[in-house]
Amino acid sequence: MNKRSISDVDLGGIPGRTAIVRADLNVPLDGGEITDDKRIRASLSTLRILTEARWRVVLLSHLGRPRGEIDSTSSLKPVADRLDELLDPPVHFIAHTSGVEAVAGLETLGAGEIALLENTRFEVGEMINDPDLAGFWATLGDLYVNDAFGSAHRAHASTAGIATAMRAKGGDAVAGLLMEKEIQFLDEALDVPEKPFVAIVGGAKISSKIGVLSGLLPRVDHLLIGGGMANTFFTALGLDTGDSLVEMDAVELARGLLEQGGERLVLPVDCVVAEDVSEDAERRFVGRTEVQPSDKILDIGPRTRQVFTDILAEANTIVWNGPMGVFEVDAFAEGTVGIAHAVAEACDRGAIGILGGGDSAAAAERAGVADRLTHVSTGGGASLELLAGGDLPSVDELSDRSY
Ligand code: 3PG
Repeated sequence: MNKRSISDVDLGGIPGRTAIVRADLNVPLDGGEITDDKRIRASLSTLRILTEARWRVVLLSHLGRPRGEIDSTSSLKPVADRLDELLDPPVHFIAHTSGVEAVAGLETLGAGEIALLENTRFEVGEMINDPDLAGFWATLGDLYVNDAFGSAHRAHASTAGIATAMRAKGGDAVAGLLMEKEIQFLDEALDVPEKPFVAIVGGAKISSKIGVLSGLLPRVDHLLIGGGMANTFFTALGLDTGDSLVEMDAVELARGLLEQGGERLVLPVDCVVAEDVSEDAERRFVGRTEVQPSDKILDIGPRTRQVFTDILAEANTIVWNGPMGVFEVDAFAEGTVGIAHAVAEACDRGAIGILGGGDSAAAAERAGVADRLTHVSTGGGASLELLAGGDLPSVDELSDRSY
């Protein structure tokens, strides 16, 4: 990475300096309870090195999409409480995002302590990258640390504008440890991958992953396709997909990818079908040419699992994004879970296995293999952006590294 990271900063010296850390603490909540704290735990390393060096930490994050309105169901208070449980130094919650109230709330913050401000998206200026709001946040500290990989594809005031503002006042704007690690795996490790390089792409829609599919296709030895998007490829091949989800306006795209990919693009040869998506639905295993008009294709079949597993057994670099079927329902989870195990086995023998965030991360957890994988990303949209070969606008704003 040609941008400065927190590892380049001499954190020693005068205790009590203030770092403004932007993390992605956008975690799922159910009735105010955090149902998955992975993103909170992933942010701890950066917070720890700062507090251990006796920095004051002003922590920023968004939660949900309140779009400039105060919405108590999107408050970061439960996140502050969880951070306080996980960390030794005290974590204070400040129920304001800007203005004199926020400044007043920070007055008593001690060296080695953390203050989490309220949801950045309660501010109208956040999502439009308002320079005044960014400038205000930049006044709150001496160093800006962007550790919010999950939001790195967003050019918002707390992710991009604040870095520009911090540099404009002569300060340093650097990547945090999580951001650095994510970029190392999702960008640099895949830049010159050890071959064979295999990508597995699943999920419902080709249209939401077209960048990833066309970005990866020229670089991989095999691109394995699963999930609902395989149906659109089947349609492009003239196969009957019954009552399955097909993106009719992406059929041409699929045709183009099939032409471009040739034998490198590997589609399922069989599938699990049922008439409805429920645990007790009557499921059948059929070849991809045997789908009946009332069938919904809901998972890859056992023969496909074997074909994919054999390819993965030879791979030295694997990147996986998106499930192979409706894995949330046990009856249609075998394909996704089987692939998760095949990727984990490849990692056990020394291959690099990288998972894009979101659904695939949940699938790896469900299969109980997340700990065996080389890297499980905390970012959904941001990891798709990197896999597609795109840029992360908030990272572009950080200070350049001088060699
Ligand atoms: C995510 O969950 O993908 C990130 O936190 C970004 O959230 P957003 O899509 O609402 O910008």
